Amino acid sequence: MPDPHSIVSQIGDLAQSGERMIERLRRKAFLPESRKGLNLRFGIAEAAQLLGCSTNRIRMAEDDGRLPPPPAGDNGRRLGYTVEELLNMREVLGASPRRAPLDVPAMIAVQNFKGGVGKSTVTTHLAHYFAVQGYRVLVVDCDSQATTTTLFGFNPHFNITREETLYPYLSIDPTQADLLYAVKNTPWPNVDLIPSNLELFDVEYELAAAGADGQSVLAARFRKLKQGLTDLARDYDVVILDPPPALGTISLAVMQAANALLVPLAATTPDFCSTVQFLSMMDQVLEQLIEAGIAVDYQFVRLLCSKFDSNDPSHEMVRAIMEQSFGPALLPVPILESAEISHAALRMMTVYELEKPIGTPRTHKRCKANLDEALGQIEQLVRHGWGRVDRVDEELVVNG
Ligand SMILES: Nc1ncnc2c1ncn2[C@@H]1O[C@H](COP(=O)(O)OP(=O)(O)O)[C@@H](O)[C@H]1O
Ligand SMILES: [Mg+2]
Repeated sequence: MPDPHSIVSQIGDLAQSGERMIERLRRKAFLPESRKGLNLRFGIAEAAQLLGCSTNRIRMAEDDGRLPPPPAGDNGRRLGYTVEELLNMREVLGASPRRAPLDVPAMIAVQNFKGGVGKSTVTTHLAHYFAVQGYRVLVVDCDSQATTTTLFGFNPHFNITREETLYPYLSIDPTQADLLYAVKNTPWPNVDLIPSNLELFDVEYELAAAGADGQSVLAARFRKLKQGLTDLARDYDVVILDPPPALGTISLAVMQAANALLVPLAATTPDFCSTVQFLSMMDQVLEQLIEAGIAVDYQFVRLLCSKFDSNDPSHEMVRAIMEQSFGPALLPVPILESAEISHAALRMMTVYELEKPIGTPRTHKRCKANLDEALGQIEQLVRHGWGRVDRVDEELVVNG
């Protein structure tokens, strides 16, 4: 008989050695030479394209003093504009895509009950996509596995305490009355983050232990998360929620707080089957919530194929099955499987944060163009919710 204590200590050793490695990776990702905050630069042509104006318009504004002179490097070479400078440029040239004050901020839950389908990858890339486009973004990591927190460069184990997560607000004995305490700056000037760590899971334990009172405590927690996020959302255009991949209190509270649902899934049979299961479970749960007087209302529900390999015939086949089953709810453009995404993840970054390609320039360019197109579909849905339909091809995404 193996000694149970020695097995436990063996698991503990594995965890510790893994933790040390994560910290080493994180330090490496943050060595001054590999990452000093956000070092992105956009050339004038790229800036003009993002703003939807001509390069001339930018040059004129720089000449007549409405904009600061173009940033120049040591040898007088143009450096390109930072994200911050782009934001200013948008303000000055009246090209900000922000919502109008009365438009409801989008609160998108990126959910599927299966792990590894790309929830955190989609959450973080979507956040940075919206940021590049000039929106104000809040990301809320609601998953105690905290992948999203990691992709924002925090080590959930070492840098984040339970008091910095949603815990003090959702706990059975809350010590916070609103969510302001939890909002952290990120290297992006227009992206904030509410981080998570393993201890957020305590919320689930506490509420499970609440026994007979559980039901009413639960309902109160649902309303509370929605209220807290709605208050915060006043300062943002888009709030992106990464819930835990299971049917628990936090996950349900997130589903209820959100006003849009994005379901990522890979083009594989297991992902397809578990997504169908997820949808039927959601259907039952939402019905129960509505019966209990807890409102759930989504502006849009869409499925997004999150790791599509066009060279794999089985992916094509499963995608056809998905199209047949989900019709227009399946977004037409999938996110392609790309080594650029997994390599960026190794550096605890998204592809949008890379200053230069990790793989070949061609792979990088292709990956980014695909991400822009796939995530642009969600931008269009959000803008449609604000009553803005500005391009013909939006019709396709919005109406299927
Ligand atoms: N389009 C993609 N191309 C390559 N790798 C991807 C892609 N999408 C996700 N991945 C990888 O798949 C793994 C699981 O993704 P993740 O976002 O953590 O899933 P989840 O949050 O659903 O558990 C990660 O290693 C991630 O880097
Ligand atoms: Mg995740």
